[in-house]
Amino acid sequence: MSETLPMDEKYNAHMSKYFREYEESLKDPEKFWNEKTKILDWFKPYEKVLDDSKKPFFRWFTNGKLNVSYNCLDRYINNEKRNKVAFIWVSEKGQEKIVTYYGLYKRVNAFAKALLNMGLKKGDKVTLYMPMILESPIAMLACARIGVVFTFVFSGFGAEALAQRINDSKSKIVITADGVYRKGNIVELKKIVDDAVDLSEGVDSIIVVKNAGNRINMEADRDYYYDDIIEDTYVKPEEMDSNDPLFILYTSGTTGKPKGIVHSSAGYSTWVSNTLKWAFNPQDSDRFWCAADIGWITGHSYIVFAPLMLGLTSIMYEGAIDYPKPDRMWQIIERYGVNILYTSPTAIRLLMKFGEKYPELHDLSSLKTLGTVGEPINPAAWQWFYHIIGKDRCPIIDTYWQTETGGFTISPSLDLGLPALKPGSATFPLPGIDPEILDDEGNEVKPGEKGYIVLKKPWPGLMLTVNNDDKRYVDVYFSKYKNKYLMGDYAIRDPEGYYWLLGRADEVLKIAGHRIGTIEIEDALVSMKEIAEAAVFGKPDTVKGDAIIAFVTLKHGFEKNAGLIDSLKHRMRDNLGPIMVPEEIHIVDSLPKTRSGKIMRRVIKAVYLDHLPGDISTLENEASVDEIKKAVEVIKRSGGD
Ligand code: WTA
Repeated sequence: MSETLPMDEKYNAHMSKYFREYEESLKDPEKFWNEKTKILDWFKPYEKVLDDSKKPFFRWFTNGKLNVSYNCLDRYINNEKRNKVAFIWVSEKGQEKIVTYYGLYKRVNAFAKALLNMGLKKGDKVTLYMPMILESPIAMLACARIGVVFTFVFSGFGAEALAQRINDSKSKIVITADGVYRKGNIVELKKIVDDAVDLSEGVDSIIVVKNAGNRINMEADRDYYYDDIIEDTYVKPEEMDSNDPLFILYTSGTTGKPKGIVHSSAGYSTWVSNTLKWAFNPQDSDRFWCAADIGWITGHSYIVFAPLMLGLTSIMYEGAIDYPKPDRMWQIIERYGVNILYTSPTAIRLLMKFGEKYPELHDLSSLKTLGTVGEPINPAAWQWFYHIIGKDRCPIIDTYWQTETGGFTISPSLDLGLPALKPGSATFPLPGIDPEILDDEGNEVKPGEKGYIVLKKPWPGLMLTVNNDDKRYVDVYFSKYKNKYLMGDYAIRDPEGYYWLLGRADEVLKIAGHRIGTIEIEDALVSMKEIAEAAVFGKPDTVKGDAIIAFVTLKHGFEKNAGLIDSLKHRMRDNLGPIMVPEEIHIVDSLPKTRSGKIMRRVIKAVYLDHLPGDISTLENEASVDEIKKAVEVIKRSGGD
C-alpha cells in the first residue's frame, strides 16, 4: 500500500466525531436518522424510519410528505438566502449567467406552470436530453415540483440510445435544446431528438430551449419553444410521499438493456444532502464546483439536489475542460474564486498531460478542498492533484459510490473528521454504510485480500427499484449474497481499515468515468447488417481508464474493406453517441467460443493485450485448455487489422 500522507493536525483531531456518528448510525438508526432528516422541510412527518418488511425493497421514512423543489427553493425565498447566488453558469464561449435562489424559484415555477398547461400531472414521465444549461436544473426542479418523474439522458448518447430510454420510461414529453457548443462545434441536439422520437412511441410534445442558435426543424402542434410556453406565476408544490419516485436514471449493466434506476423523494434527498455535508463540509460562503455532467448521477446529486438543499452557490460549466486551451479549468477557478473542486480522475489525467505550466498561469489560492469520483484514482494523478493543484493544502475527498447508491458511500469526511489520506483509497464508510468484502462463497476475506464489496445494511439513498423490473433489482443486486447489496466492484480493506476500490468485477467499463456495459455495445454492433458476432472489452488507457476495443465477424456476403470500419464507427456514433464508439474495431474470421457457444471475450482480451499464454487457463472456466489454445491460434491467424 502507499504511504500514509501526514495531513494537518487540525484535520486529524476530529476523528472521534466520525467514530461516534458512524457507530450510532448502525446501532441506533432510528435515533440517528431522526436527527439527520431535520436537514429537510417536511409537509408531514414520516411514521417510520425504515420499513424492511419487503426486503430487499427497503422503504425509508414511510408516509412522510415533502416536495424536493420546495426543499431546494421555497424555503429560502423569505430569508437571507433569497438573494444568494444559486448558480454561476459559464458557457464554453465564456459567457456567464448568474441566478439567485429567488430567480431560480421564479423560473422553476414558470416552467412548472408550462408543464401543467401541457397536461402533465403527478406520476407522468418526461425525458430530458439537455446540455449543461440553467434550464436543465430548472426542468428537473419543475418536474419535481409537480410530481412528474424525469429521466435525464446524457447528451452524449445518440438517437437509438435515447429512443430506448424514452420508451422504457414511457415519457410523454421530451425537453431538449436546439444545440450545444462542444469544442467550438455545434452538436445538434434537437435533430437527435427528432430521430429518437421517430424511433419511439408515445411522445406527444418536444420542448426546445434556444441555446446554440442553430437552425432546427419545428413541427407544428408537437414542438414548442421553452420561451413561448413559460408563464410567470406560482405553482403550489405537490405533496409527494417519501417513496414517490423523484427520477429515473439509466445506467449500464451486464445485459444489452440499460437499467432504469428509480430514486425516491425523501430517502434520496436525505442521503445526498447529508453526504455532501459530511464529505466536503461546504460553508455558506463557499463556491462549489462539481465539474461532472448534469446528465449523470454525479450531476443530479451534487450539481443540483444536494447543493440547493444546503443552500450553496455552485458553478455550472457548459464546455470542455480543455477548450479553448488546456487552462480552462484553472481559469474558471481563478475567475470565480472556486473553493471546492469536485472532478474525475480522467479529467485530472487529461489536464496533467498538458503539464504544470497551465495551472501555473492561474492563482488557485481560493481552493480549500478537492474531490474525485467515477473511477479509482491512480496515485500519480492523486499526487499531481494534491501538489500541483491543491499546493499541499487541500485534502482530496475520493468519493466512492454509484448511480444506484444515490450519493457517496465510502469517502473521507471533512465534517466528521478527516482521516490521514492514502492516495488511491476512498478511506472509510460514511455513516449508515456497512461494507464487507466477500469471496465467491460469501466468506469475508482477510485484510489485504481482494473480494467483492457488498453493503450489509440498507441506507436512505439506495434506489427504490429498477424501472419496470423488480426482478432485475433483486437478481442483480441482492441475489449473489442474499439481502446484501452487491456493488459490482472489487475491493481490498487494508490492515488499517482503509478501503481500496479496484474497479468493476463485471462486464462494465469505465470510459472517462462513463459507465458503459460491453454487452450494450456488442448488441449495437450485431444489430448492424454487416456484423454477425461481436466481442467488446476494455483496454487500459492512461487518460480514460478504459478504451473500447471490438472484435467482430462479418455476415456472409460482406467483405472486409477499408471503408467498412469507418462506416461502422460512424453509424455507432449516430445510433449510440460518441461515448460508445469503439476506438478500434477488428474484423476477424472467427471468434473463439466455448462448447456452449459463448464468445470467450476474456480470452480475446488476453490475446490482444499479449498476456498469453501464462494465465490463460484461469480465464475461462467453461472452456477446456485445448479449446482455448485452439481459439488463440484462430485469433492469431486471423489477426485483426
Ligand atoms: C466506479 C458514478 C473507485 C465504481 C458516481 C462504481 C469508483 C462505478 C469511484 C459507478 C471511486 C465511482 N473509486 N471507483 N471513488 N467512484 N467508481 O454509476 O466502479 O456512473 O461501481 O456512478 O464507478 O459508476 P456510476
